[in-house]
Amino acid sequence: MKALILSGGKGTRLRPLTHTGAKQLVPVANKPILWYGIESIVAAGITDIGIILNPETGDEIQAKTGDGDRFGARITYIIQDSPDGLAHAVKVAQPFLGEDPFVMYLGDNLIQDRLDEFLDVFKGQQLDGVILLKQVPNPTAFGVAEVDARGRVLQLVEKPPVPPSDLALVGVYFFSPAIHEAIAQIQPSTRGELEITDAIQQLIRTDRAVEARQLQGWWLDTGKKDDLLAANRIILDTQLEADIAIAVEEGSQVLGRVRIGEGSVLRNSTVRGPAAIGRNCHLENCFIGPYSSIGDGVTLIDADIEHSVILEQAKIEGIDQRIVDSLIGERSHLKLAPNRPKALRFALGKDSQVELV
Ligand code: G1P
Repeated sequence: MKALILSGGKGTRLRPLTHTGAKQLVPVANKPILWYGIESIVAAGITDIGIILNPETGDEIQAKTGDGDRFGARITYIIQDSPDGLAHAVKVAQPFLGEDPFVMYLGDNLIQDRLDEFLDVFKGQQLDGVILLKQVPNPTAFGVAEVDARGRVLQLVEKPPVPPSDLALVGVYFFSPAIHEAIAQIQPSTRGELEITDAIQQLIRTDRAVEARQLQGWWLDTGKKDDLLAANRIILDTQLEADIAIAVEEGSQVLGRVRIGEGSVLRNSTVRGPAAIGRNCHLENCFIGPYSSIGDGVTLIDADIEHSVILEQAKIEGIDQRIVDSLIGERSHLKLAPNRPKALRFALGKDSQVELV
């Protein structure tokens, strides 16, 4: 059994963060989204993992994630030269996959359920496919499944204008090698991509056994800012273990479940968990409220932050209003003059959003 993680894609919905960086490396509780998927695959006992990259963000993902050692896995990187769809990515990965069954995992998906039980269904019943479904309020944004009472899949459609159900296809699939033949038989969709949804529909059409299981826990498709903040909140709530690697100075307070990395300094500051603070951060006269993740090397002086994700090396100074529901990119710098500012001065990249509310 192998795993194939798809970590190409453009991340248009997370711009401006992902103009240059990979969306799968955007951190949730200070850990790249992609790594949650890898850990979940390894926890199911699968250690031979291929990761599909695109030429633009591939180097960054490879440099950060490494050869798999840190996860107890072996990672093979595979470049998909053009963004021609999820099924096209499987085609590109064929030399790596060979005749092995595999789990395919979209690198920006986060799920709470463990993979083991689905893997048992897939292996135990010798199926050609297991897909995972979740009820959603907006099925038109996803692949949608129609299933019978026994869980057999009747029909799958990609982003249908009139959805046959509210069961969305989660980005985690289990396949036998029969999927390769199915992919060879499909044509690009109207958006010009070889859709994995169409390939699974092809399996069904040729009487291959494909079953669906509904997720019990949460599913987050971290493509957008609010989804990312939701993912951050849920992970901090359910997975964060308190671990304070520094001696907290007098005058500062750490309350509740908080993680603080080595080399960080807290001066006259309060952190109320759940919150994660990275390594080598400098916090002075700050209040860090629940559901905040502060990346490595961040400087916060006279700042009040809650329910926000601040990426590595960002600097925030002198903002006396509370910063909430915010996503601040790597090396961003926010500063307010000590006296009431008479003017606002910005240097914002493409697609930036500033709301002075
Ligand atoms: C892809 C799949 C879709 C699935 C979704 C889950 O969509 O095509 O069927 O529901 O992932 O994240 P995309 O992210 O390419 O729009």
